[in-house]
Amino acid sequence: MRVLVTGGAGYIGSHTVLQLLAAGHQVVIVDDFSNAKPTVVNRLETLASQPLTVHAFDVADRDRLDALFADPAAPIDAVIHFAAFKAVGESVAKPLDYYRNNLGATLALAEAMLRYDVRHLVFSSSATVYGESAPVPMTEDLPTSATNPYGWTKVMNEQILRDAVVAHPLLRVALLRYFNPVGAHPSGQIGEDPAGIPNNLMPYLAQVALGRIPKLSVFGDDYDTVDGSGVRDYLHVEDLAAGHLAALEWISTHDRPLSVWNLGSGQGTSVLELVRAFERASGREIPYEIVARRPGDIATSYADPSLAERELGWRTTRTVDDMCVDTWRWQQANPHGYPS
Ligand code: NAD
Ligand code: WQD
Repeated sequence: MRVLVTGGAGYIGSHTVLQLLAAGHQVVIVDDFSNAKPTVVNRLETLASQPLTVHAFDVADRDRLDALFADPAAPIDAVIHFAAFKAVGESVAKPLDYYRNNLGATLALAEAMLRYDVRHLVFSSSATVYGESAPVPMTEDLPTSATNPYGWTKVMNEQILRDAVVAHPLLRVALLRYFNPVGAHPSGQIGEDPAGIPNNLMPYLAQVALGRIPKLSVFGDDYDTVDGSGVRDYLHVEDLAAGHLAALEWISTHDRPLSVWNLGSGQGTSVLELVRAFERASGREIPYEIVARRPGDIATSYADPSLAERELGWRTTRTVDDMCVDTWRWQQANPHGYPS
């Protein structure tokens, strides 16, 4: 298949691109590099031993999308749509930017797919759509809601696509609800490269281990969890990328218009457990202090991934220790992320 990958230069997109190529698919990347460095593309080309087709534009640009979909020499068979802004705190400060980018991209893309009769779409959703009071393990049939504009863009995008498949029943859409993706490509050449100080725990830990940040602030030790710190379902980005290939394959061979799958390990790991795992992986002590809870955080989040296992034959295979080892390899090889 020729697969259009929006956001293909980003963290999850770049790992998925490598797996698509390894599986024999052709890949066309659209990324506006709002949160990626162009040097990612050189790394991907080296790892894949082939040149890549990359278009640098905003997915909301209908004229550029039309030109891409209309190219008779390179017809698009399916789309994996990663492109979005993803920082929760920034979304509270700049809600309109988030709604414009995250909804505008999906609308323009879905409309272009309909114009050019492209029927298969895999969409990056998030466990954030389960809101703040969902029971664990979280199942796909739970109601959706959100606590911040970023989360609402995922809930709204899901609704847009649910409505689209009703009106256009030939569409085949997968909504993939990721839990907490971490880790890096085993080569150490591709990984997560947050701009500025990381918001998320794993890249923050990696920078503390490196000595770039003096210590970790643990946001609360008074949750009703194994040790009082927040519990999350971490999954290796390589397992997550494999989930996209499985979902793409499934929607290409089944007739259900809309599918929703959790992609998680089904295991909860606390902040303090992850600190210990990272210490083992890096051989370094991680200084930390307990501080107040972060507003908006929930105590515990982990998936029931059994639907994806049953239908897709997909499950995670890498452990939390693997995730830390691979993150550390990437971080050590690239202490300042990708070169500019
Ligand atoms: P990322 O920021 O690394 O990748 C997104 C890519 O999309 C970036 O390369 C960025 O430059 C590009 N982009 C953003 N808006 C664009 C636009 N309008 N047009 C073209 N390119 C655009 O993020 P990621 O971690 O790889 O996340 C990928 C997707 O998965 C996002 O939709 C995100 O919301 C979702 N997701 C991420 C996580 C996570 O923890 N990383 C969890 C759940 C869901
Ligand atoms: C994990 C745990 C923190 C940083 C976020 C988004 C979510 C999804 C994934 C996209 C929590 C604790 C963190 C730190 C800490 N993204 N923590 N000190 O909050 O589960 O999910 O990323 O869809 O929408 O909200 O991930 O990595 O930020 O936090 O103690 O410096 O680590 O309180 O318990 P989170 P995270």
